[in-house]
This record gives sequence, C-alpha cells and structure tokens, in this order.
Amino acid sequence: MFAVRRVLLAPRLSSPPIRLPPSRVGTTRWAFDSFSPQPTPRLWSGLQSWREAPANERRTWGPDGPCQPTDLTRLDDDPTASAASLAECAALVLSTPDPLAKSSLSHLAYSRWRLHGLPVGVARPPDRPARPDRPILVSPKEIPAHKSLGLPLNSYMLHNLAHVELNAIDLAWDTVARFSPFHEALGDEFFSDFARVADDESRHFAWCSQRLAELGFSYGDMPAHNLLWRECEKSSGDVAARLAVIPLVQEARGLDAGPRLVQKLVGFGDHRTSNIVAKIAEEEVAHVAVGVYWFNLVCQKMGRIPCAAFKDLLKEYNVELKGPFNYSARDEAGIPRDWYGGTPKWGAKSDLSEVHDRLASIIAMERENSSLNG
Ligand SMILES: [Fe+2]
Ligand SMILES: [Fe+2]
Repeated sequence: MFAVRRVLLAPRLSSPPIRLPPSRVGTTRWAFDSFSPQPTPRLWSGLQSWREAPANERRTWGPDGPCQPTDLTRLDDDPTASAASLAECAALVLSTPDPLAKSSLSHLAYSRWRLHGLPVGVARPPDRPARPDRPILVSPKEIPAHKSLGLPLNSYMLHNLAHVELNAIDLAWDTVARFSPFHEALGDEFFSDFARVADDESRHFAWCSQRLAELGFSYGDMPAHNLLWRECEKSSGDVAARLAVIPLVQEARGLDAGPRLVQKLVGFGDHRTSNIVAKIAEEEVAHVAVGVYWFNLVCQKMGRIPCAAFKDLLKEYNVELKGPFNYSARDEAGIPRDWYGGTPKWGAKSDLSEVHDRLASIIAMERENSSLNG
C-alpha cells in the first residue's frame, strides 16, 4: 500500500501542486488530475508559537501548577544519544516498555531534535509498542466500574487518562517512524510537529503518574483497554488515514471529554486533579490543530476536498464519530464543523447554538454519571 501512496505525495508539501502523468495515478481515486484549489482553512492561532517554543521543561506538577523538576536527567545519561536520527529515537521510545522511562526518553529525544540538529532519518517501528506487564488489557466492555473495583472515582478516572496519555506517546512516535521513509515528500516540519506532540503527551503522562502516586496508586493498578492502538494499526499504511483517525478523531474526542472530566473531578472535590486535567485539555488543542494543518496539506497535494476525503476515510477504516461535540474547542483547533456533521459555522456562534452545546454537554454528563453510579 505504501507504494501506491508514495506517488501521490509531492516532493515538498509547501511547493506548488504537482501533476503526475495519468498513467501513474489512473487507478486511484486520489488522482492529482482532479486538483482544484481549496479555500484556506482557518488554522489555530497558537500553531506558530507552539512550534517555535523551546522544549517544555515543566514536567512536574507543583503546588501552583506545572514546574520544572529538580532532578533533571543529565545529557551524558541520555540513552537517545546512541540514536542517529529522529526516526531512530522514535523506534527507541516505542521499544521501551517502562512507562516513566518512555515518558523521559520522549522528552530527551525531542530536546535532542531541537538542540542538536538530528536528521529525520529512517527507522522501522515495532509492530506494537513495548508495554509493561500491567495494566492487563481487556476489551472496553470488560473494564469494571470503579465501584466494583472498590476504587475512588477520581483515581479511577485519572488512571484512565494516564492510559490514554501513554498511548498518545506511542501513537505520535509511531507516526514519526512509520512515515519516515516519506520525509522527502512530507518535509521536516511534519516530523517536528509529531515529535513535539509526543513530548507534550509524555509531560501529560508524567503529571498523571505523579498525581496517581499522591493518591496512593500507580499506573497499572487498574485494567485498561487496547482500543486506541487498534485504530493506529488500521491506519499504518496511509498518512491521510493516520491523520484522520488519530488527531482528527481520537484526539478530538479528548477535546469533547476534557471539560466533562474536569467537572466530575470538581464535583468529587479533587481540585488538584481537576487542575491537571484542565491543563492537559488546554494543551490538546494543539494536537488536533496539527492534524487539521497536515490533513489539509496532504489533501491539497492529492487534489482531494478535505471534508469529503475525511468522511470517505472514516467510512473506509470503519471509524465512528460520536458526540456530543465540544464545538468551541473544535472550532478553536480549526476542524470545520461540516467535517463531523455539525452545522457549518458562519460568523459568530449564535445564542441558540450556545444553548444547544450546553444542553448536549449536560445530557452527556448526566448519562455518564448515571452509568458510573449504576
Ligand atoms: Fe495528552
Ligand atoms: Fe494529544
């Protein structure tokens, strides 16, 4: 499948559209010949400053929020020093089973990329990322409710989030390594963006892990599901599908769920955990925005209309979109509403749609509360 997709990517995504001879693209629906200019999407306003910011060292959650840890790993202890490229760093992180080591290595790898001018390189990622023996992985239906496990709701929800963040580290590094053979076509910035996403996710996991320890638990104490990796595997042969399925669906679900989780933790009385979750939710906008940016560029080069391409890919890969949607966060990240079935946004949000969004969120919270209490 790689071979088919290879000819569909232009040498540089920032260059003008390229037309290939019809004989090379005639069998595929992603033909360049159908190219038509698309309106420039409205991008997240923070994208450039997110890209340009130095590597974020605030990996500990202090009394007032994120802060720099006192026991920084010295560079001569850095296991990523043996990697000759960013793609090799990605493969190294993916092959590391210990979650905290995976998190630390992610930060070291991204810091080396930023400071030492590593090439993107090429590396083959493992078929599945290395993971610890615990948590045991079960199907989503087999995940027990917090009451049957005898666990406090805040720790239970935080453990679920830690699992999502650990998966997100691997998902981002897999994108770096998996598509590294195409770095000439995609350009360095594609890999830089996903390495930065991996670094963000590693910081999120570190905060969750620290807070779990403060509550008397550690990652692995509760069963978890393997659903997130399955969607990554499905899209491993197609960069457009990977962008649609991971940042634009999976990460966007995080935008929808974040405020509800914060509210539940506030209701439970755990303000420290709710502050961590709120900060994570705030930082997730960047990851969806990066997905929108690259999906639009890949579609442009393929001569596809992004909205139609997104819907076709979800159908092809059997990925379901589930509301209720956090329209304001999705708008901020730049996902057009017509991509996911929402009403297209023309100008300012109307009072009626504000009321609709709030009602949808309240109904979803009530449903989740009743299933958690039931
Ligand atoms: Fe995250
Ligand atoms: Fe994320």
